[in-house]
Amino acid sequence: MEKKFRKIGILTSGGDAPGMNAAIKSVTCAAINRGVEVVGILGGYSGLINDKIRPLTKNDVCDIEARGGTFLYSDRCDEFKYEEGMQKAIATCKRHNIDGIVAIGGDGTFRGATDLSIRGIPCIGVTGTIDNDITASDITVGYDTAMNTVMHIGDSLRDTCESHARCMVIEVMGRNAGYIAIETGLALNAIGVAVQEKEFDKEALFAKMTHARKNGRRSFTVVVAEGLGGAFSEGLTKEIEERTGIEARFVRPGHIVRGGIPTLADRNFASKCGFKAAELLLQGVSDVVVISRHDKITSMEIKYALILDRMYKGKLKDGDLDNFTDEQIAEMKAICKERAEYFDDMYEIVNGVGC
Ligand code: F6P
Repeated sequence: MEKKFRKIGILTSGGDAPGMNAAIKSVTCAAINRGVEVVGILGGYSGLINDKIRPLTKNDVCDIEARGGTFLYSDRCDEFKYEEGMQKAIATCKRHNIDGIVAIGGDGTFRGATDLSIRGIPCIGVTGTIDNDITASDITVGYDTAMNTVMHIGDSLRDTCESHARCMVIEVMGRNAGYIAIETGLALNAIGVAVQEKEFDKEALFAKMTHARKNGRRSFTVVVAEGLGGAFSEGLTKEIEERTGIEARFVRPGHIVRGGIPTLADRNFASKCGFKAAELLLQGVSDVVVISRHDKITSMEIKYALILDRMYKGKLKDGDLDNFTDEQIAEMKAICKERAEYFDDMYEIVNGVGC
């Protein structure tokens, strides 16, 4: 028999991402429309531990999809990684009659959601990270806005570079994933894109730049993913000057890329994911993350998604695959292959079409 939900909670955790507010709004309204009360948990899992709970009405969330950041605030909470913290969080749920939670964030958020699900508080995850580093999902909430922000920054930088005949090295966020760098590199006609996932041929870059300058090109953009470390981008900027004679500057937009008005793509993707999350939770589903695969909003067990992630990142630990069937493992490998192929293709295109 389906569990009767009295009240559900929503939290956002980890690095904030544009579009999180649309997800909050959509979960809230979808639940209220089904006669279920909704509360916001302020500041992620630490809000759950410290009883920072507020009721949410439709009026509270009306029009928040147009705002960046997260209206429920966020945090990276170490205390929640320990049993004591989790028990405090569960006690808060009991005190407030919170029968289930939608947790919006990245892989750390989903680990927390699994921990709560196992302990009797059903949870559904929604992706919310600019990094697009959730292997299970083709895209994540916040990724599109972040890419557009980098593109606009890069366009502005090109204007001044063109005036001064310079090269701009832009280091972009993404943690250990080069997705933002590679996609924006293409959109910005970057002469070089350096990401952690691929060997970067500096000599080829210097040769290309020297050749292009000889042919009259004034400005250049090089995009570097932050996964390579600050020393890499700053070092590369100096080397470009030394090796090509082209004046170079370095820019790190940093957290600017995480803020700003969410794009239509992020708002609507987040709204669809939020709707799906509320639907699943109220149907009695738990411990899954809402994902996008081949343009379809669907869901995947969190346990499966986290192992898949480790497989893709080459971080599998002994025993990780023990509880999966051969069929599941084959499927995981196929997803990893598809993702890697996409990245390889993008890398080839970005290096193949630069002019
Ligand atoms: O995961 C999102 C992200 O913005 C990464 O791109 C970046 O590496 C990290 O968070 C920055 O974290 P913080 O906001 O804690 O400095």
